[in-house]
Amino acid sequence: MDPEDAEELAAELHGKTVDGWGLFQIAAGTGLTAYVVWAGILMPGFRKVPLRLQVPYVPASVKQVENVMSLLKGRSGKLVDLGSGDGRIVLEGYKQGFRPAIGYELNPWLIRLSSYHAWKAGCYGKVSYHREDLWKVNLSDCKNVTVFLAPSVLLLLERKLLMELPEDARVVAGRFPLPSWIPTTTDGEGVNQAWAYDIKTIRETEQDKSEGSPV
Ligand SMILES: C[S@@+](CC[C@H](N)C(=O)[O-])C[C@H]1O[C@@H](n2cnc3c(N)ncnc32)[C@H](O)[C@@H]1O
Repeated sequence: MDPEDAEELAAELHGKTVDGWGLFQIAAGTGLTAYVVWAGILMPGFRKVPLRLQVPYVPASVKQVENVMSLLKGRSGKLVDLGSGDGRIVLEGYKQGFRPAIGYELNPWLIRLSSYHAWKAGCYGKVSYHREDLWKVNLSDCKNVTVFLAPSVLLLLERKLLMELPEDARVVAGRFPLPSWIPTTTDGEGVNQAWAYDIKTIRETEQDKSEGSPV
């Protein structure tokens, strides 16, 4: 907010013009509000997560959810959304027939919001949202994994997925592709794009790379 707007806003609020001290109070108040929203609503539960692995909450767009789901079409079994936010991908996965449909999310407010959305959709108790650090979840029986996380953590995530997922698993990444993997297919464009990766193919490619053969 520039000083003129701030002065105008303050004048409207107090019915009078403000001096420099008034402006300082507004600026400090705005900063404090931003901090309270950040620390109290967006990032609780992250105290034990190293700063470089912290990912803020941004929900997938309707189109992004559609694209993620289209890349899972024809598949079944367990679906897991890592960093499930308000639970929209998990809920849509359940509606598309995935069982069980599970979300892992650190932020307790978002877990509550997810349960509310599930209840509103008549799916309360049918989908599960766990308050758990995604880095500590064992993924060895997850056939369908969805992620929408910051690019800064995706290289590390590739390593975890490669180590733990079963051979027939498919990973679908929304908004940001997995940095070193070649996708089997993709859908959508721009901020709504999603990429699908089949673990069997990724492992074969990684094997070829480590043996030094051209890919
Ligand atoms: C970009 S949002 C995506 C939300 C949801 N998957 C969607 O597509 O709408 C990423 C989410 O991951 C959560 N998250 C980040 N790091 C996490 C961690 N280590 N364990 C569990 N959840 C995490 C954040 O709280 C945030 O809600």
